[in-house]
Amino acid sequence: MTQPDNTDEAVIRLFNVSKRFGAKLALSNITLDIQKGEWLYVTGPSGAGKSTLLKLFYLGEKTTSGQVLAFGTNMNRLARKDIPFLRRRFGIIFQDFKLIPNRNVFDNVALVLEARGEPRNMIDKRTRNILRHAGMDKRMDAMPASLSGGEQQRVAVARAIAGQPEVILADEPTGSLDPKSAEIIIGLLSAYHEKGATVMVATHDRDLLARKKGRIIRLEEGRLVEPSTGEGGAP
Ligand SMILES: Nc1ncnc2c1ncn2[C@@H]1O[C@H](COP(=O)(O)OP(=O)(O)OP(=O)(O)O)[C@@H](O)[C@H]1O
Ligand SMILES: [Mg+2]
Repeated sequence: MTQPDNTDEAVIRLFNVSKRFGAKLALSNITLDIQKGEWLYVTGPSGAGKSTLLKLFYLGEKTTSGQVLAFGTNMNRLARKDIPFLRRRFGIIFQDFKLIPNRNVFDNVALVLEARGEPRNMIDKRTRNILRHAGMDKRMDAMPASLSGGEQQRVAVARAIAGQPEVILADEPTGSLDPKSAEIIIGLLSAYHEKGATVMVATHDRDLLARKKGRIIRLEEGRLVEPSTGEGGAP
């Protein structure tokens, strides 16, 4: 475990991080601090390394070189048995939702809380409450396959928030969604952010950048580049 000086507020730190997939350098020498309570956008063209960057934080991928510290812990040294505990500190929203196909909406959210051993009445109450905020309380018995993309993503966001993680990682949370679903999703994430959570959003969605203020970083071919305009250039 490494706890560097003067970094009390940095939840995630990257030092000279590179990630290679075979001959492909997906991330090149990234150094970056993410502060507690930040709302951070990761922009850049397709293939720039946005999803790969988010995966490094929860050990969805390992670095090829360099160091990632999450909550002061060096990911290169995290014991395998400790990975589940690390992952509980993140709420992860995937572009393709990744709901459990043979469980209904209620169970998809409630399972996160069950895995943590929360009491049954608390699980029921919190799950219903979150699904109400997500506008999905009337679809609690529905199976994921019967939902629209926007509805599935609302459930995925509800699930990510349910466990009250310190950090939300959202990979294109509004990609190709209808405006109403996008608005609900940003509303849910914003409300959670206002409670003190750190939120990182990888996105191409210019409307999203305009809708909610945050720091914008930009990747191009795996390198971190300075934003070219006040809005971080073309996403
Ligand atoms: N598991 C993998 N195996 C091989 N190459 C990979 C793997 N994951 C990502 N890559 C490559 O790494 C590069 C960065 O991919 P990544 O998915 O991080 O990009 P992205 O910025 O998220 O793109 P998009 O906007 O299309 O989602 C791409 O060239 C991609 O093909
Ligand atoms: Mg991606």
